[in-house]
Amino acid sequence: MKYFITTAIDYTNGDPHIGHAYEKILADVIARYHRTFEGPTFFLTGVDQHGQKVQQAAQKSGVQPFDFAQEVTRKFLALWDKLEIRKDGWAATTDPRHKKAVQKVLQSLYEKGELVKAKYSGYYSVRQEQFLTDKERNEAGVFGTEWGEVILLEEENWYFPLLKHKEWLKNFVEKHPDFVTPAFRRNELLNAIDRLSGDLCVSRPKERLFWGIEFPFDPNYVTFVWFDALLNYVSFAGYLSDSDPSLPDFTELWPCKAHIIGKDILVPAHGIYWPIMLHAMGFSDEQMPRLLVHGWWNISGAKMSKSLGNTVDPDILADRYGADALRYYLMRDNNVGHDSDYSEENLVKRNNSDLANDLGNLVNRTISMSRRYRGGRIDPVELNDDDLNSIRDLANSVTGRYRAAFERFEVHHAIEAAWELVTRANALVEQKAPWKLAKEPAATELLHAVLYTLAESVRLLALMVSPVIPTASEKILAQLRAADIRTLEWGGLPSGHELDEPFPIFPKFDL
Ligand code: ME8
Ligand code: MG
Repeated sequence: MKYFITTAIDYTNGDPHIGHAYEKILADVIARYHRTFEGPTFFLTGVDQHGQKVQQAAQKSGVQPFDFAQEVTRKFLALWDKLEIRKDGWAATTDPRHKKAVQKVLQSLYEKGELVKAKYSGYYSVRQEQFLTDKERNEAGVFGTEWGEVILLEEENWYFPLLKHKEWLKNFVEKHPDFVTPAFRRNELLNAIDRLSGDLCVSRPKERLFWGIEFPFDPNYVTFVWFDALLNYVSFAGYLSDSDPSLPDFTELWPCKAHIIGKDILVPAHGIYWPIMLHAMGFSDEQMPRLLVHGWWNISGAKMSKSLGNTVDPDILADRYGADALRYYLMRDNNVGHDSDYSEENLVKRNNSDLANDLGNLVNRTISMSRRYRGGRIDPVELNDDDLNSIRDLANSVTGRYRAAFERFEVHHAIEAAWELVTRANALVEQKAPWKLAKEPAATELLHAVLYTLAESVRLLALMVSPVIPTASEKILAQLRAADIRTLEWGGLPSGHELDEPFPIFPKFDL
């Protein structure tokens, strides 16, 4: 089995923004953690290229939807490279392998009687690509501006019956608390299931929307973009691929360890449509994925949006501050599941204080002093010293809490735990003052023990920060000549180990 980590796939109707970057970094950090400390891992992310939004954006630019989506896709791919997103699979929904799987799923649901054709007439939101019912009306009894242009439409379409699976879903969610993390989102989902009152229209007549995957048994229709997009989680994991060697082995990846998505797409897409789709396709309760639902990054408390002109471009930030500083800030200043306020000032502050001052100085002092007083050599010395014993106990407790936090996907808590060790190790330097010990022949043993304690703390820290700031972590491990020592147990550096030359890793920036 592999740890299979996935994200929402981003719409290719516009440029990537900081929210997209945050989600991919969060997923990449969780995937890197599993790859380094837990076992083989497969990280899938990608782009959502079909649907009305993309067709409309392309029309506005006067190009074909395929070309438009390809151009935006190139921007996403270049950004993920720049941000060190280490993906194992790329889910682009115009990929013929995906199309094949979606059509197979449609065909088999049709044969099982899980798709039915029906006529429907009602109000339709062009912007949201959905029919509206009375429950979408606001207190004034009208459809609010959030729905954009609303038209009256009569249409024959294919429907996926949700209601007959409603009881199953309700039971499933009630009995499986870990289906949705964090827990408060689960209540939101249960309420939505109670309110579920209609089936899902999964087709669009081609005359209205041509930019989608054609129905295999009714070529006048294309697939509703959500039905297509949700299936990326299985199609790019090798589901129904006839052992296509370019795709992974599905049985190795499934069930998914985590679908990482934003709070806006839990209800109804991932919390209702998706499990019911899987259930209707024949997946058992044990084969349901887990959802990790993150919050949003806002700007001064307000929603970020293109129309307000307050979107933040992660590409510019990565050029200005480097991937590590941006990754660290987004992981450290967000409590996973909750919203955060983006501020460039806080990004710079976090970089300067946590990375350059706290961690950077610790690494630099440790290696410099070891070189100065011992020619770079370090040795574990057993001494009964309270300060040294206590930092070692702290290190063991920190690595334990670090792993427990990752088990709950609480990246910020994992970082906070690691920083307890940073703070404690910096304090040890002041307490023991190696520059004084080096002048006292009687303190040689203690000097060795202190330098070893610092070097081993730095090694553990370099490993613990590796999912979040992979480039800096590699540089620290290289200076320690410890790139191959991957244990989170205290004592990984062997006796007589030689450290490399120190050089500064973390730049500071002006506000
Ligand atoms: O919803 N802060 O695509 P999308 C944090 N294609 N996350 C944010 C955010 C913000 N300000 N804004 C958006 C889609 N996101 C569909 C998904 S999955 C089968 C199909 C997150 O480009 C958002 O919550 O609108 C979602 O998880 C992801 O970015 C893609 O949003
Ligand atoms: Mg969206």
